[in-house]
Amino acid sequence: SDEELHARIAAAKKTLGDRLVILGHFYQRDEVIQYADFVGDSFQLANAALTKPDAETIVFCGVHFMAETADILARPEQKVVLPNLAAGCSMADMADEDSVEACWEDLLDIYGTEPDADGRQPVIPVTYMNSSAALKAFCGRNGGIVCTSSNAATVLEWAFERGQRVLFFPDQHLGRNTAKAMGVPLEQMPMWNPRKPLGGNTEDEIRDAKVILWHGFCSVHKRFTVAQIEKARAEHPGVKVIVHPESPMPVVDAADAAGSTDAIRKFVIASEPGDTIAIGTEINMVNRLAAEFPDRTIFCLDPVVCPCSTMYRIHPGYLAWTLDGLVAGEVHNQIVVADDVAADAKVALERMLAALP
Ligand code: 13P
Ligand code: SF4
Repeated sequence: SDEELHARIAAAKKTLGDRLVILGHFYQRDEVIQYADFVGDSFQLANAALTKPDAETIVFCGVHFMAETADILARPEQKVVLPNLAAGCSMADMADEDSVEACWEDLLDIYGTEPDADGRQPVIPVTYMNSSAALKAFCGRNGGIVCTSSNAATVLEWAFERGQRVLFFPDQHLGRNTAKAMGVPLEQMPMWNPRKPLGGNTEDEIRDAKVILWHGFCSVHKRFTVAQIEKARAEHPGVKVIVHPESPMPVVDAADAAGSTDAIRKFVIASEPGDTIAIGTEINMVNRLAAEFPDRTIFCLDPVVCPCSTMYRIHPGYLAWTLDGLVAGEVHNQIVVADDVAADAKVALERMLAALP
């Protein structure tokens, strides 16, 4: 029963004390979030893994790529646990190492490997945090960098100082929305479909590109539409609309603001009592904000409940099972990134941390 699970989790947390830290992403259900020592967006959670050096175990209530990142950044002795190994990210799965390597070779065949007169490389790889450790390592080895939705513009600026072009993966929408806001013309952002020769582009299109966008997308955020925003504006005059930048470009353009999960939260905090706010992101987070700010009208743009099905796989039952294991001295579902992969991935993650103001 829920009470029994609650009692097990609370007792294990008490027994483990400071030896345990539980991190929770904003998209986790309330039944899990209530046990988190720290709640945040994917960037803040990566930082939290760095700033809890005393904990022996980090239990990550989020998805697989987040737990991998925590393992890369945590001290070697610290163990990172993902309560349910089936909690992946469908977007992260859309870019695999072999396809990105093949794309990279095609690009270097066209661009060559020599820097230009200003010392800028032909192309810099930028991976969204929502990617496997192997792809972060690829970026580390090839002069590239990681970004999150909270720092994508700063990271792209970093990349354009060092490269003539950027290969951005896996999320086409974050890449397109960010580069467009920086003034990159859409014609210079071809999309790369790994199932087609040259990603489905002509050699000229690749030669003229500023940002090559991988074809990945988030199945939750691609559901948001301009029609939903128009409906919200018609039904709630004065409504403020904020969406996550994984949403398609026309949706970001029609919204009042776009930002990471933490930026969305800050947008709500900065609003006034009586305001109406329509949000384009995952439903657990939207419902939590609505409950936290009952003096505002807060709703999800999509009327059909849109949870992230993989984030939802972290059930309190799995959390109880992993914590019971830790109390008994057994580590279930540990996420271990191989040392060589972790070393290269860390280079790309540290470039991100160093690029931030
Ligand atoms: P944030 O970096 O905004 O937390 O986003 C993570 C994510 O998976 C959004 O879909
Ligand atoms: Fe991945 Fe989308 Fe879920 Fe975020 S919301 S974890 S991008 S599937």
